[in-house]
Amino acid sequence: MADIGSNPLKRPLPDGIVPEDLVARTEDRWLTVVLSMLGVMMAIIVVTGALHSLHPSSNVETIEPVTLHLGGEFAESNLGTAVEPGGSVTVRLVAEQYSFVPDCAQVPADTPVKFRITSTDVIHGFLLPATNVNTMVVPGYIAEVRTVFSRPGVYVMPCNEFCGYGHHGMWARVKVVPRDQFPDLSPVERTSCAKQ
Ligand code: CUA
Repeated sequence: MADIGSNPLKRPLPDGIVPEDLVARTEDRWLTVVLSMLGVMMAIIVVTGALHSLHPSSNVETIEPVTLHLGGEFAESNLGTAVEPGGSVTVRLVAEQYSFVPDCAQVPADTPVKFRITSTDVIHGFLLPATNVNTMVVPGYIAEVRTVFSRPGVYVMPCNEFCGYGHHGMWARVKVVPRDQFPDLSPVERTSCAKQ
């Protein structure tokens, strides 16, 4: 019969050494915590994706950057704010070194707003501080972001992707007007913030 002293696994551990079973239990607990965090994050992604409240930064819609000004959706006459049949609005913008065209768009508050933006030259960024609007604008692709503005006011729209020497001066505005005042604006006023 072996006594305890001859089995090294049964010998009392020196001070400072944590017993193996305690280590295993602690590891199990951390593994459970990490796995449940992963589960919660996956659930959030699946639920927001299924409810269409998840906005990827862009969608895979392509456009020819060299000819987009000649006709179609991004022809100059088609830029700015358009009212859709359902009452929502779509704002179409072109980003180029070093401006957005148009440089200001007016939209109604408390109304679904969809921005569709593309670039004619290099990668630009489109950011509306304090909103969920933040996307890269990549030449050859149409970026699309949706939001609802709850507060009227002027939102500054800086280019947030370094695009060259004039990057710091590249910015535009979105003017959010109260929902009931928007229909009074003429189509020209919707696409400009200049006093008519
Ligand atoms: Cu355009 Cu930075």
